[in-house]
Amino acid sequence: MGSEIRRDAEDLIKIHGTPPREVYLDSENSGLIFPEALKAMVDCYVAYGYGHPSITHKVGWESYEVLVKSSEVISKALGCSSDEILYLHSGTEANNLAVLGFAKAHVGSSRRKILVSSIEHLSVIHAAESLVKYGFDVVKIPVDVEGFVDLDALSSLIDSNTLMVSVGMVNHEIGVIQDLRGIIEVVKDRDENIVFHTDAVDALGRVKFNLKDLGVDLASFSSHKVFGPKGAACLYVSDGLNLEPILYGQLSTQRLWPGLENVPAICGFAKAVEVMMDRFDEFNSKMRGLRDMLIDGILSSVDHSILNGPRGGRRVSDNVNISFIYCEGEALTVELSLRGVYVSSGSACTSRILQPSHVLIAIGRRFEEAHGSILMKVTPMHSSDDINYVLENIPKAVGRVRSISPFKVG
Ligand SMILES: Cc1ncc(COP(=O)(O)O)c(C=O)c1O
Repeated sequence: MGSEIRRDAEDLIKIHGTPPREVYLDSENSGLIFPEALKAMVDCYVAYGYGHPSITHKVGWESYEVLVKSSEVISKALGCSSDEILYLHSGTEANNLAVLGFAKAHVGSSRRKILVSSIEHLSVIHAAESLVKYGFDVVKIPVDVEGFVDLDALSSLIDSNTLMVSVGMVNHEIGVIQDLRGIIEVVKDRDENIVFHTDAVDALGRVKFNLKDLGVDLASFSSHKVFGPKGAACLYVSDGLNLEPILYGQLSTQRLWPGLENVPAICGFAKAVEVMMDRFDEFNSKMRGLRDMLIDGILSSVDHSILNGPRGGRRVSDNVNISFIYCEGEALTVELSLRGVYVSSGSACTSRILQPSHVLIAIGRRFEEAHGSILMKVTPMHSSDDINYVLENIPKAVGRVRSISPFKVG
């Protein structure tokens, strides 16, 4: 980070001050960790699991044991065998390995077509698009106004050239829960040799699934999305599937992702998965209640506000995404921050460049609707008092941003 930017950040924090109450609603991008997961990770750093899991001495074996036990917990939650998961450091890495590693293993094949939904995370879309210069063809599958994949369009895009299809289980921006079973049925009915990848980073702990039962071939997960530490993620690679590494190195227990595994973070990841799965019903019913309180409260108190994505059981329990027309999204994040409400405008990948979200454009939002969108994630740690505080502040913040906006209500 340049020194100017660092000084700016210091100044901004000083000027900002501490608001009377603070509600953090940005766990889409990064967030808090469960205390149980933090303790498991710290125990690893200081006592059991700090060594290199490939080295043959007691401390190395202890780390290896931590890895094995973590894999048992995580694979049980995913519905696969523990040999079918490999660790990386982020969901971005998992998506890149899934797409690039599979394509690389099939460069000699006559199949050159990769289908991705038009609302995939950019770590899927950009990874796939990077293959175009090597002769692959990337085609986007259209979605409807709520973000559901169009099954007829999917079916018509599949042909004998199709190598791989990637559709996220839950969309990170608009919370749509895809009918993954239906999508996989369409793909495998057309051709059972097509490989199916799902980015399930936002589904774990919120949607009940079993990877084997679904018939998925590759699936990505990230620790920080289940309130585990940053720096751990995993990719499910179904037994026998051929992937080539995209990184090369030396010491590792894993062929496909060389380098030292982040054992303490993986241990914290497994603990967070365990907590999330043990309290699945309680957490999800609480989040659904807070989500709907926030959606209903905003739509009834702010004119010209529209919900992006579906409602009810077809929307993931924690996601709220609302467009405030005649309002600039970035300005709204700053105005809300001054009031102690921390949200993002679009996803982190696009929030530093003033480009409307590709997800909102894909569901048919106009530029000014996509531009004024705010993404919020509720968590099991929030209370209804937190949501009431947010609901008090959003109409005031939107009113102020609209009063100085070049887009005029009318
Ligand atoms: C659906 C989805 N996929 C992938 C990622 C990337 O994960 P990470 O932040 O661990 O790189 C995210 C992160 O926000 C996500 O929401």
